[in-house]
Amino acid sequence: MKNIVAVGSGKGGVGKSTVAVNIAASLAAQGAAVGLLDGDIYGPTMPIMLGVEHPPKSVGPRMIPIEASGLRFMSMGLLVNPISR
Ligand SMILES: Nc1ncnc2c1ncn2[C@@H]1O[C@H](COP(=O)(O)OP(=O)(O)OP(=O)(O)O)[C@@H](O)[C@H]1O
Ligand SMILES: [Mg+2]
Repeated sequence: MKNIVAVGSGKGGVGKSTVAVNIAASLAAQGAAVGLLDGDIYGPTMPIMLGVEHPPKSVGPRMIPIEASGLRFMSMGLLVNPISR
């Protein structure tokens, strides 16, 4: 990875996920190879925002990031049962 952009805050519901997905999609639209990691454990919203709900495939011990909107992403929301979110 050449660059890492971290989006965080000390408060919930202030727009972190919205900012993160828009930065990622904007960079991808400009031609950057972008990986988006949703580190939210208790309320991951990235699968909803990117319109993907199916779990990632795995190759051996590695999970393959999901591709959507021109970027690759991984989220706890892809791994847990929707009912437990
Ligand atoms: N710039 C903005 N102006 C108005 N509303 C916004 C803006 N950015 C995000 N929102 C809205 O605020 C709400 C919370 O946004 P978001 O889910 O991105 O926040 P979050 O910080 O990731 O929340 P959480 O802490 O629950 O993960 C959403 O309903 C979103 O649509
Ligand atoms: Mg969020």
